[in-house]
Amino acid sequence: MSQPDLSPLAVYQARVASGALSPDDGQLAAITRLDRLWHELAAHAVAARAGRLSRLLRRAPPPPKGVYLVGEVGRGKSMLMDLFFEHAPVAPRQRLHFHAFMQDMHARLHAAKRANPDLADPIPPLADHVAGQARLLCFDEFQINDIADAMLLGRLFEALFARGVVMVATSNTRPENLFQDQPGGEAFRPFIAIIRAHADTITLGGAIDYRRAFARTAKVWLTPDDAQATAALDAAFARLTGGAAPHPDSLSVNGRALPIPAAAGRTARFDFKALCAANLGPGDYLAIARAYDSVLIDHIPPLDADSHDVARRFITLIDALYEARTMLVASASAEPDRLFVAGRGAKAFERTASRLQEMQSPDYLERGVALHEGPHQRQPASAP
Ligand SMILES: Nc1ncnc2c1ncn2[C@@H]1O[C@H](COP(=O)(O)OP(=O)(O)OP(=O)(O)O)[C@@H](O)[C@H]1O
Ligand SMILES: [Mg+2]
Repeated sequence: MSQPDLSPLAVYQARVASGALSPDDGQLAAITRLDRLWHELAAHAVAARAGRLSRLLRRAPPPPKGVYLVGEVGRGKSMLMDLFFEHAPVAPRQRLHFHAFMQDMHARLHAAKRANPDLADPIPPLADHVAGQARLLCFDEFQINDIADAMLLGRLFEALFARGVVMVATSNTRPENLFQDQPGGEAFRPFIAIIRAHADTITLGGAIDYRRAFARTAKVWLTPDDAQATAALDAAFARLTGGAAPHPDSLSVNGRALPIPAAAGRTARFDFKALCAANLGPGDYLAIARAYDSVLIDHIPPLDADSHDVARRFITLIDALYEARTMLVASASAEPDRLFVAGRGAKAFERTASRLQEMQSPDYLERGVALHEGPHQRQPASAP
């Protein structure tokens, strides 16, 4: 549930108090800076409204300075930005994966040039469009991949900041190190100055990679399937999402919308029946495996020859999750090798049982973390 009246610092402290987050001084400093921005944005919105009403105050006050969160993997950058975004007192606002944003910008530039070959400068209308969609832009995984991005960015961001857009970003790279030591890096320097003028760089320097720490210690196959197991899944969801509230999500599969009942960030949670007793197919399971780094499944029942279709879907699902090195946390009636013991289909399930066993091993879990950290190669899950 979104609580627009709560400031990020209060939400962060409540999540630490609830145990969803471990206390972390570096995160506390970063969220305190984001909290200041939150108050500045709220005050700015009031001043801008008053300015519009008053004949004397025609000019809106300058927007506040944004924040660029930088740090090693697993330090909580995305978690903090998402927490801030969820409660930000700004509309409209957007939270985007930076790579997806850049692809969209290049596509729009191409389309504008094709539609109007005489267009002298396509940047101002593009900036108008973006600024119309978002007064606050939150970018996850800010990075510069190539010279085409580098050339576009300087002018585009100058135009966005001139239109009063505020930026918050997460990155593994400090602004001054973006696109350095690359051909064309020199030409990129003015952009770095623009970013630094419009966003304070805040470093999350903590020593703990929370993603790895969780993978090392997590109990991911919970039997028996009782209230304690459900509570353990609740706790795992809170831990994986930094305490974010689950919300319905939707994935696009071959032009169809696949509804996801409960998700936050790159974690989704399903009831076994909704996942394997419903009419879903391999394309759906692949989309789920692509979109989420962790999948939680409640109430995996015993399987037998009578539930042949259900078992077949479950096998396909586990294959997809296993190939993608997705973290699986589940409550189940039995250990994997006791789930499907006799009858037609039991033989085919042996490989799945073995995979389910492996998916609980620290080695599988740590390799999954290594695969999913850093710049995401996967299809971004839709923004909250
Ligand atoms: N203080 C904390 N206590 C417990 N878990 C945490 C804490 N901070 C973050 N986490 C968890 O650690 C995991 C990694 O956090 P997050 O994804 O925000 O890291 P990141 O800095 O964005 O990493 P990357 O650079 O790989 O994108 C998440 O599951 C998050 O919920
Ligand atoms: Mg991140």
